[in-house]
Amino acid sequence: MADAMRPAWAAINLQALQHNTHVIRKLAGERRILGILKANAYGHGLTRIAQALADIDAIGVARVDEALQLRNAGITRPIVLLEGFFAAEQIPVLAASSIQPVIHNMHQLEQLAAAEHVSDAMRVWLKIDTGMHRLGIEPSQVSTCYQRLLDIPHVNGAPVLMSHLACADEPDHEQNRKQLTRFSEAISPYQGSVTSMANSAALFAGIGKEYDWVRPGLALYGVSPFSETIGRDYGLEAVMNLQASVISVRKIKAGEPVGYGAAWAPATDTHIGIVAIGYGDGYPRHAPEGTPVWIGGRCYPMVGRVAMDMITVDLGADLRVALGDTAQLWGRDLPVEKVAEAVGTIPYELLCNVARRVQLDYLD
Ligand SMILES: Cc1ncc(COP(=O)(O)O)c(C=O)c1O
Repeated sequence: MADAMRPAWAAINLQALQHNTHVIRKLAGERRILGILKANAYGHGLTRIAQALADIDAIGVARVDEALQLRNAGITRPIVLLEGFFAAEQIPVLAASSIQPVIHNMHQLEQLAAAEHVSDAMRVWLKIDTGMHRLGIEPSQVSTCYQRLLDIPHVNGAPVLMSHLACADEPDHEQNRKQLTRFSEAISPYQGSVTSMANSAALFAGIGKEYDWVRPGLALYGVSPFSETIGRDYGLEAVMNLQASVISVRKIKAGEPVGYGAAWAPATDTHIGIVAIGYGDGYPRHAPEGTPVWIGGRCYPMVGRVAMDMITVDLGADLRVALGDTAQLWGRDLPVEKVAEAVGTIPYELLCNVARRVQLDYLD
């Protein structure tokens, strides 16, 4: 038995992060890499991941406070704010911290044009809606916006022209072709402009990766952007290993229910392991019976309901697990893609939901 047991922690493998960056760098060739670190670097810890990612050209985040957190931590690399500013008051703050906003609608453009007390000229990105229909100006508005941006004295140079694919994870989807055609038409008057399209899936599928900046998020963390595959299939290594100790092992008689709602009972006598992780740590509460948990070199089925601080695992009649053993909820031995599939969600959600109380241990 281990001397001490631990509630949930995530071992963050920084060598795997470097390895994945290397894989991405090889695929990207001459293109520049905007590494996406929003949502606390997909749950991996924003500042530490930014510090560890030496070989990327810029960092993308979604919120002003994330960008400022990086600047306050001494990160000097270019930072792109993917949804731009949310209020006009933020514009001078972004300019003073060299944070590059994405302009995705006319309202932001007007706010930027009208901004006062902007001490440093800002580089900006201009997002074009080519078919995602979420953020972005219409292709027909590009010429007006482009010229307006060039005319704003506190904007530094031409905007980077970008768009985002709705179906890059389904490379043969018709929508990809549509969006790429619209993008290429929209940017064609601006030969020589800097451009960006590909996220992880597009980069690995070879879609739109010819544009100047690629924008991988998920792949940096070693996770496959395509369903029914895992990162390893693309030479990637899992960065996060979410773990927790087995804090109780007990015999359960056939028919005796386990956990809240007496929702599960074994058909035959068995052993149950209690693992110190629950929905309070970000483990999904709706994880169904049978969701795999890796302990001591094999997978066991999660059974019963997920509680706030604990889950229960059926260890079987032939007990091979001891009190204090480490369970892996996802990571190197149990790909997060497999857990997401069992739970009926996507790896992004599982990673981002890891709660603040889960300690992140960085392994160099
Ligand atoms: C505009 C934009 N680019 C790139 C990414 C990175 O996507 P992925 O994590 O699938 O590589 C995102 C993430 O949602 C995004 O919103």
